[in-house]
Amino acid sequence: MPDLFPEDLEKWHIFESKLLSIFHSFDTHEIRTPLLESTELFSRSVGNSSDIVNKELYSFLDRNKESLSLRPEGSASVIRAIIQRKQEQEKHKLWYQGPMFRYERPQRGRFRQFHQVGVEYLGFEEGIAEYELISMVLQINKLIGISDFTIKINHLGDELAKQSFCNSLTSFLKPHINELHEKDQARLKSNPLRVLDSKEESTQALLKKGPQFQDFISDASKSFLQNLVGAYTDYCDIQIDQSLVRGLDYYTGIVFETVSKELGAQDAFLGGGRYDNLSKQLGGKDMHAIGFAIGVERIIEILTLEHLNQPLKVGFIVPGEQINKKTYKIADDLRSVNNNIILDTFLSEGSLKSQLRRANKNNCSYAIIIGDDEFKNDQVIWKDLSEGGEQELLTSKEVIEKYTNL
Ligand code: HAM
Repeated sequence: MPDLFPEDLEKWHIFESKLLSIFHSFDTHEIRTPLLESTELFSRSVGNSSDIVNKELYSFLDRNKESLSLRPEGSASVIRAIIQRKQEQEKHKLWYQGPMFRYERPQRGRFRQFHQVGVEYLGFEEGIAEYELISMVLQINKLIGISDFTIKINHLGDELAKQSFCNSLTSFLKPHINELHEKDQARLKSNPLRVLDSKEESTQALLKKGPQFQDFISDASKSFLQNLVGAYTDYCDIQIDQSLVRGLDYYTGIVFETVSKELGAQDAFLGGGRYDNLSKQLGGKDMHAIGFAIGVERIIEILTLEHLNQPLKVGFIVPGEQINKKTYKIADDLRSVNNNIILDTFLSEGSLKSQLRRANKNNCSYAIIIGDDEFKNDQVIWKDLSEGGEQELLTSKEVIEKYTNL
């Protein structure tokens, strides 16, 4: 559960502000749900056979002996909230963000407390919503400068197709159970579809000879997947991946993940799909649902900040004894006329030379200097800190004007 320090969070803030503008343009609105939910919510949604519920939940009994868990993901809570408000029959375009908790083995890109930004479109049947969400994923990657990524996509059919493929896969694998790795043997018992996700080469070789998913899904589902992929092949690397089943039980229909080679073993920085049965499963009315979640720590690792505008910084330098009410009034006025600029007040005394050195080190573009003479005459020195930059004497009114228009 890592601590996040200012140098980490600066990238996060820029990322978040870019995302806000995208959500705004898609007319998608924020929802916040609690970090704690009843454990039952996750066993009934993410699924009892999933690793997330089986091994990774942080659960405890509260004072009333009810089992509660820290949320491992956000979709189940969003559906619970909408059911509780009895709004399953309305349409919702929602986004959320915050920490999620999974008791996983920590490694690069995998933490026990991590953060997701998720999007859920509720009440939209298979069709335009899939296109809209893939478009949103592309927009996000473009706006934050991620160009080297692959979208893996698959269609899991409806519940019936999923079930009959599952049965056929189980009958095929059972006679070979001793050839499977221990982990895959356990998966075969608890959730046979997860065997498709196996990283074992021998399992993958065996699976090639077994039943294939595309033979179980309907022609309509197949052509929907083909058309969806076809619409984006000119814009990004998007590939059908028959082995993509995803680790949460609630999916039916389209599922997708976005991966980057730059991330190492944990290469997925975004995952999602359709989960039309979840509302009913949780005791609500029928409600179509599709969404995705971004792993913030992972996307931050690969995003480039080159073309993200860094805010302008101005050093506020008051050498000697002059730090008092009057100079602070000037700083207050500057901040209130233009708060897009960082006014770097060093909060320390010290010589002019050492404060200027510090302004350069802190990447300030300009410095405002108020020495003894300026202080007496109600003036400031405005100094351009770029190489060969000039300096000029301004009245306090003029500096406000200059700062406003910077
Ligand atoms: P997920 O694939 O389990 O899906 O998680 C989404 C993303 O969260 C992953 O692609 C990954 O980037 C990040 N992530 C997951 N576990 C960790 C971890 N331990 N450390 C760091 N990052 C991690 C879901 O959670 C679904 N609720 C997504 C969804 C929304 N499906 C439909 N709507």
